Amino acid sequence: MNKRCVLVVGGAGFIGSFLCKRLLELGYRVIAYDNLMRGKRSNVSNIANNPNFSLIVSDANDFKILTNTIIDNKIDYIFHLAANSDIQASAEDPQIEFESTSKTTWSILLAMRETGVKHLFFASTSAVYGELINDKPFKEDDCLNPISYYGSAKMASEAYIRAFSYMNGFNSLIFRFPNVIGPNLTHGVFFDFISRLKENPKQLTVLGDGTQCKPYMHVKDLVDAILLLCWDNKGVNTYNVGVETATYVRTIAEMVVSEMNLEGCSIVYGTSNVGWKGDVPKFAYCLDKIHSTGWKASMTSDEAALETIKEALK
Ligand SMILES: NC(=O)c1ccc[n+]([C@@H]2O[C@H](COP(=O)([O-])OP(=O)(O)OC[C@H]3O[C@@H](n4cnc5c(N)ncnc54)[C@H](O)[C@@H]3O)[C@@H](O)[C@H]2O)c1
Repeated sequence: MNKRCVLVVGGAGFIGSFLCKRLLELGYRVIAYDNLMRGKRSNVSNIANNPNFSLIVSDANDFKILTNTIIDNKIDYIFHLAANSDIQASAEDPQIEFESTSKTTWSILLAMRETGVKHLFFASTSAVYGELINDKPFKEDDCLNPISYYGSAKMASEAYIRAFSYMNGFNSLIFRFPNVIGPNLTHGVFFDFISRLKENPKQLTVLGDGTQCKPYMHVKDLVDAILLLCWDNKGVNTYNVGVETATYVRTIAEMVVSEMNLEGCSIVYGTSNVGWKGDVPKFAYCLDKIHSTGWKASMTSDEAALETIKEALK
């Protein structure tokens, strides 16, 4: 019971469960805290029997359970990954974003203030930047112009973190993730294509014309970067984290069809270069700041894409 104990809010989700596993390997006691809105018990089944791991099924907005969890387990580091990760769902119902993305951040910050926890990692997103202007890659200090409810809720969260950190002396590390992929995906283009092709192996309908092009990063690389920078972080620091290359949606569709050996399957594209309203069709950001720490992704976007498809089909 003397080991340092950390809390991973959103720990039963895709990225959170991967992070929990790595933290256990490093010798920490780990509490995953998740309302299972999108997370699954099966994501943590490989670590469920580890005596240093527990899963608490509860909502981050339940202040009493959250603060009791922190106090009872003497938590001194919180990794906040809870959010709505389905941008299309919140395009239909923006309230989801307020409850799952902004309010969870507010609640966690209040709980830190109440319990004295001083260290936070926050999973932000490239969606805070909005649309690319003249193909100029975004830098961390650029103006934020989110166009989705999701991006705006993350931007609000970043602002809350800045103010709480200033007022309470928190050390907060903010990573703006690109599209993250790997085993146990719960959503996104890879998840969608594979699910749809399992239902109908003869035809794949793609949202948009396939020219949408974004950097895809493997979760292994992302978690390496988090664990490299989180422990010694002082003050509030924001990093773009990602890969220098990008992959077209058209390439992903072709890779999935080929890896599933679906000869004769037709891929039907839409006419717009936007998958849905609020989607950013092309994206690039500057990685100089994170590269200056010595970290660099080990896989290109295409390599991460292919590995993810192979893992999902295993
Ligand atoms: N996967 C990506 O491509 C990507 C890109 C940018 C940012 N992010 C961010 O990274 C984080 C993790 O994303 P993910 O891909 O693993 O998504 P995910 O949906 O698999 O994980 C999020 C987890 O948070 C939980 N959760 C949501 N609301 C909660 C609440 N009120 N209380 C407790 N738990 C709650 C969900 O059940 C889920 O397990 C999210 O904050 C997401 O916004 C992800």
